[in-house]
Amino acid sequence: MNGKNIILGVTGGIAVYKSADLCSKLVSAGFDVRVVMTANALRLISDRIFLTLSKHPVLTDLFSGLQPRPEHVDLAEWADLLVVAPATANFLGKYATGIADDALTTAALTFRGPVLLAPAMNENMWNSPIVQDNLAKIVEKLGVRTVGPDTGHLACGTSGKGRMAEPADILEAVKKTFSA
Ligand SMILES: Cc1cc2nc3c(=O)[nH]c(=O)nc-3n(C[C@H](O)[C@H](O)[C@H](O)COP(=O)(O)O)c2cc1C
Repeated sequence: MNGKNIILGVTGGIAVYKSADLCSKLVSAGFDVRVVMTANALRLISDRIFLTLSKHPVLTDLFSGLQPRPEHVDLAEWADLLVVAPATANFLGKYATGIADDALTTAALTFRGPVLLAPAMNENMWNSPIVQDNLAKIVEKLGVRTVGPDTGHLACGTSGKGRMAEPADILEAVKKTFSA
């Protein structure tokens, strides 16, 4: 998979710890990975993990760049694929309604290539008709693909649907995108 560029979007879901493994697996598979994190993801995990694993600076602030061209535009043009893992209910809602109020949502709206989302949330959130409507709209309008969520133990202590797909399964879905 040399020569393929991936934006890995990381949002503020408890499954962020699995995103670090995903980042490592993508890099090991030969992808060039640039990570974009939301402010809430940063409250759960350090950007330094992704800096080290991706070997690139992590974009966390839409307005931090000093270069004349906005970084999210450069990133969106550089990437062959956008993967958002985990994709929170909040991210799905913003993406579905065109809200672009941080680096990730702005890059997502700017990006014109294939998108793979790995939703992850509490089962009640996942079953909310609002969340399902948002996801259906994203899939229908933008043709994005999803992987998971899986069923099993959830961080809130219950069992049900909402677990982020395993990093190995997301990697397989990524490879499938490029082989299709
Ligand atoms: C400890 C913790 C874990 C959370 N896990 C999730 C989650 O798995 N999925 C989700 O949709 N929201 C989760 N949330 C809520 C999100 O962090 C919240 O909706 C936030 O606005 C998401 O922002 P972002 O999408 O910009 O990262 C969690 C919140 C906390 C405090």
